Amino acid sequence: MVWAKGLWTNGITQFPEACENLAIKVAGGRVGMRVMVTSEKSHAQISADRIARKGWTNVIVNVGDATNISSWRLVAPGGLDRHMKFTPFADSSVDSAISLDACYHFNTRQKFLKLCASKLKTGGLLSLSDIILGSAKLSALDRIFLRIFVIGTGVPMVNLVRLSEYEDDIKTAGFVNVEIEDVTDNVFGGLASFIRDRDTEFRHLLNWRRWLQYRVMRHFLEWVIAKGVLRFVVTKASYE
Ligand SMILES: C[S@@+](CC[C@H](N)C(=O)[O-])C[C@H]1O[C@@H](n2cnc3c(N)ncnc32)[C@H](O)[C@@H]1O
Repeated sequence: MVWAKGLWTNGITQFPEACENLAIKVAGGRVGMRVMVTSEKSHAQISADRIARKGWTNVIVNVGDATNISSWRLVAPGGLDRHMKFTPFADSSVDSAISLDACYHFNTRQKFLKLCASKLKTGGLLSLSDIILGSAKLSALDRIFLRIFVIGTGVPMVNLVRLSEYEDDIKTAGFVNVEIEDVTDNVFGGLASFIRDRDTEFRHLLNWRRWLQYRVMRHFLEWVIAKGVLRFVVTKASYE
């Protein structure tokens, strides 16, 4: 799913607030120098421009593949500087690694976890919001639906593991004190309600293609919740 989904708690009814709420839950309280990366050039550019407007000097934005630091290119306000390669972090030099609603897309999550483990200091923190498989046994038809969505949204099937395998993968990468909180109802449920409540508004405001995308997303989320197909989790762990 390429849509940000947000965390719909504390009476939040607006999309930007829900996204901020999830970001605070996953990454809140961190200070110091931040290095960001996304594979989406337009997102990187918007972020770099906003950061420059705010005058923040402690954030560096890159475009590239999160699992491969040598692919990262620095993004300057006003335009990507194609010649500026990010100088990779030294091993065991990073305090905290965060993935906000993204690492189920990575090829693969396990590669990303191993990279985080190699760069984090001992005691460094890992924070993720992530999607895993639910425990429900799916019918053949449901499995076909899931596969269509997974292919359509660029999620490697290998990343969709059940809770116990997910926890084992994190521990195998070298993490301890693994805490996994299931926030499915406040994420998928919240977003589905937000889209449902605004259906009439969206029909008038958006072109039919965009409106249809919202409709499909809503039905997908309702199916995911009703059948327990996927779970949305917030995961914290430390590197030993
Ligand atoms: C669901 S969006 C979430 C965006 C944002 N983190 C948020 O919460 O609003 C997933 C993001 O993961 C990024 N992404 C997917 N694969 C990636 C990769 N291999 N490396 C870096 N970013 C990736 C996509 O560009 C997309 O912006």
